[in-house]
This record gives sequence, structure tokens and C-alpha cells, in this order.
Amino acid sequence: MRLTKRLNAIVNYVTPGKIVADIGTGHLQLPLYLVKTKRSPRVIATEYNLGPYQIACFTVALFNEKEKIELRQGNGLLVLMPGEAEIVVMAGMGGNTICQLLSRAPNVLSRVKRLILQPTTRAGDLRCWLTQNNWRLVDELLVKEKGHFYPVMAAEPGIEVIQDKLLLAIGPRLVEKNDPLLPAYLEKQIQIYRRILNELAGSQNPVYFEKRRALETIISKLNQLLAHCYGKLDRIE
Ligand SMILES: C[S@@+](CC[C@H](N)C(=O)[O-])C[C@H]1O[C@@H](n2cnc3c(N)ncnc32)[C@H](O)[C@@H]1O
Repeated sequence: MRLTKRLNAIVNYVTPGKIVADIGTGHLQLPLYLVKTKRSPRVIATEYNLGPYQIACFTVALFNEKEKIELRQGNGLLVLMPGEAEIVVMAGMGGNTICQLLSRAPNVLSRVKRLILQPTTRAGDLRCWLTQNNWRLVDELLVKEKGHFYPVMAAEPGIEVIQDKLLLAIGPRLVEKNDPLLPAYLEKQIQIYRRILNELAGSQNPVYFEKRRALETIISKLNQLLAHCYGKLDRIE
């Protein structure tokens, strides 16, 4: 059974032998892989939408894994009892959705030992939410699939030392490890910010003036980070 690079990165963050909850399991690839390879003894796979839930039920039966994969239909963590799963995976959802799902079930979340998160958007907002809610970023890596960069992060209860907003937007662990995809990722972010800056360039409105200054600061800091990645700067100001 072969997994995509993205799902493979998630598997590598799963501590062997632990019960996993895969929230928004989709095609059930992750739970099937985890139990078939015996990395997890049991997976609780959840789906909010009826269509994917029904397909997942059919797939569990087809692969004869009803004992090891339990399917539940419902919203986020609300279908779990506190302490049922030490590891929670949320992958392929927007960063803000993940923040909302985490916020809605504090009793469940307080018993989780590790979160493995792969936001499709707003990764910075998610990292900020984690640091403000007593989760520390244990590790992170970037995966590139079909031209898109996906951050995959592992977080555990604790205090995150990095509070700098820009570093949290990029991923402090990615910067510290100098992730192999970080330079390309930073270049893409700089391109995006430059495009927005160009769009605001003609306006005389003072609100846009402030926005332009803020964007210029971000671009300059991202360029410093990029230079740091390429070994041209020892320290980031
Ligand atoms: C893009 S798929 C990702 C599937 C899989 N996790 C992956 O990474 O390949 C997102 C899935 O999350 C499910 N989903 C969306 N909101 C949800 C929620 N609040 N609770 C549970 N599942 C949800 C959707 O039905 C969909 O199947």
C-alpha cells in the first residue's frame, strides 16, 4: 500500500503503538495504512459528511478491518470521549477550521498527547492558536505535491518559546531545521506579498499606505530569512 508524500509525512509523526483518531478521514487511506502496517493497534476514523462516511464504511468492510478501524459520523472532536485517543490527526482542512474544531472540545483536547496537523490554508493562524492554547510545536516539515506546499506539524502540550508572529507564520521549526523546501516556500510567499503590494501601489488612501508599509516590512523580513536559509546571513534581526 503506497501513500502520498503528504500522508507519509503524517504517518512518520504517529508514535508507534498508540490509538489514533483521524478527524475528517476522507478516503480512509491513513487509518488503513496505520492498522495494516501495525503502526497503530486501533484507529477511530471520523467524518462529518454522509457521503464520505458511507464510502468509508464500505471500505472498512471491504478491507475486513472492522475490529481495528471504528468509524464515527459527526463534527470534529465532538464524537470522541476524553482519553479515547492519544494522537489526533486533522489533515486536509483549512487552518481556521482546524482551530475551530480544536476549540470546540476542550475536554477531549485536554487528554490528547499529540496533534498531527496538516492545514491546507492559514498555517500561521493555526500555529498562533496552538501557542496561545498551551501547545508547543514539536516538529514540522514541508511537503510539495502537485505544485502546492503543505506544512505537516506535530504539536504536544507545553509552552512554545517562539512568539514572533512572522516566524509563526512561516513555521519556527522549519526555519530552525532549514527544511529543504523552505527556500522555495519563502520565495513563493515573497511573490504573493509582492503581488499584493503591487496591487496597492497606485492608491493614495492612507489606510493602504499603512498596509503597504506593513507589507514592505514583511517582505524585507522574509528576504532576510531567505538569505539565512542560503547561508548568507548568520543571524535574523
Ligand atoms: C480534503 S478531505 C481530507 C481527507 C484526509 N484527511 C486527507 O488528508 O487526505 C477533508 C475531509 O474532512 C471532512 N470534514 C470537514 N469538516 C469536518 C468536520 N467538522 N468534522 C469531521 N470531518 C470533517 C470532509 O468531509 C472531508 O472528507
